[in-house]
Amino acid sequence: MQPKAITVREIYSRFSAKEDLTKLGEIYICGWVRTNRDSGSIGFIALNDGTCFKNLQLVYSNELSNHDEVSHLLTGTTIGAKGTIVMTPEMKQPFEFRVSFVEVLGTCDSDYPLQKKRHSFEYLREEAYLRPRTNTFNALFRLRSVLARGVHEFFQDRGFVYVHTPEITGNDAEGAGQVFSIATMDEKGKLNDTDFFGKRASLTVSGQLHVEAFAMAFRDVYTFGPTFRAERSNTTRHASEFWMIEPEIAFGDLEDDMNLMEDSIKYLIRYALEKCPDEMDFFNKMIAPGLFEKLNRVLETPFRRMEYTEGIKLLQDAVVSGHHFDNSDIFWGMDLQSEHERYLTEEVVKGPMFLINYPKEIKAFYMRENDDGKTVAACDCLVPGEGEIIGGSQREERYEILEKKMKELGNKEGLEWYLNLRKWGGCIHSGFGIGFDRLLMYITGIGNIRDTEPYPRTSSQLKY
Ligand code: 4AD
Ligand code: MG
Repeated sequence: MQPKAITVREIYSRFSAKEDLTKLGEIYICGWVRTNRDSGSIGFIALNDGTCFKNLQLVYSNELSNHDEVSHLLTGTTIGAKGTIVMTPEMKQPFEFRVSFVEVLGTCDSDYPLQKKRHSFEYLREEAYLRPRTNTFNALFRLRSVLARGVHEFFQDRGFVYVHTPEITGNDAEGAGQVFSIATMDEKGKLNDTDFFGKRASLTVSGQLHVEAFAMAFRDVYTFGPTFRAERSNTTRHASEFWMIEPEIAFGDLEDDMNLMEDSIKYLIRYALEKCPDEMDFFNKMIAPGLFEKLNRVLETPFRRMEYTEGIKLLQDAVVSGHHFDNSDIFWGMDLQSEHERYLTEEVVKGPMFLINYPKEIKAFYMRENDDGKTVAACDCLVPGEGEIIGGSQREERYEILEKKMKELGNKEGLEWYLNLRKWGGCIHSGFGIGFDRLLMYITGIGNIRDTEPYPRTSSQLKY
């Protein structure tokens, strides 16, 4: 009779539930050899079966019929093993798996790039198809999956409707001219049909405009999917393809918007800590010492709110008192660089903050004009170490004001439907976009956006 097949995840969850693991009897496990160390009479294999972050310690003796083969198993080899769990409360790991039988399910050549030594993130980026097998990326991509579920739980538990906004669009929602346009390709690889849709089409930079229309039907909605930006900025925080969470709330103003931002960020931090304790522990110990302290402080502290105008003043004061910025020409009306955002959130506030009411010239056309005629009800959430992770605003709900802006900008054609929303049952409404990849950087302490995406896309980078 074949013994019962079981996963490492199940073994650990039974252990946490205080079940007697020795009662499992003989079981079968399969996975990949992380390390193999043979000391003659006894040998140890650290096995990872992908179902959880932790490895299972396999112990074999020289009495195994294929002991010679087993003692020479290379890192990366796929194996199946029969054996029993033995409790080892006096050892580093609480139990081990004493094997009675080992079979090789897939060999691994000795040129396997992921040998035991530590590899740099740069090196692993070149081997993006293998890196999910390393501790760091195993932890990261499981967390990415879990947090995606957390996003849906947060919004759906609050009655938000999930809208699949299109990836192909005829408009540049942000009006920043950073779009990838779409063409068809013939058999020879020649681009020709740029008019497939009868007009210029591109990959979406944001689902916001489309999701706003749904807010006028469902009240609270969100979209969560990939977005594309042809930004040439080669930084640690910009990707050409990234995921964005974009909620939109009808009857909500900027204040409601900020409350929702803060609630969702805190919820997702808590979610990560609760649902991925092993992974988060790893990040705290190995990637970003002090991470738990930082995250717990974020959970306990209200996010400070600061006017753009005050931010400018503080930056000017900083220059006067000798703080070095690469761009130290600080004036009201400027678009802040990441170094400026970081100064405010790291040096002044020392935690997450909202910077609000920006000059209208530097923000998108759909943002609501404030009574001063100079600023818009915009809000960026800035965090230490990164700068902006959320951009949001109250939307311009007044038809005439929006129409005037769109005419000036020349983007009214094709967006008449968007303007119509202000004519046919419009209302005050607001929304924001969280960069999901940047949020992952923040929650894990990983320093480069390329290390939060399974197959990152940045300019001049398309290996896989
Ligand atoms: O500030 P952004 O451009 O805002 C919007 O797209 C709005 N339509 C959102 C809304 O109100 N519904 O982008 C929102 C967030 C940024 O704060 C940042 O976290 C992320 O998206 N982001 C990027 N992440 C990675 N790579 C890039 N190139 C990014 N550009 C923006
Ligand atoms: Mg922004």
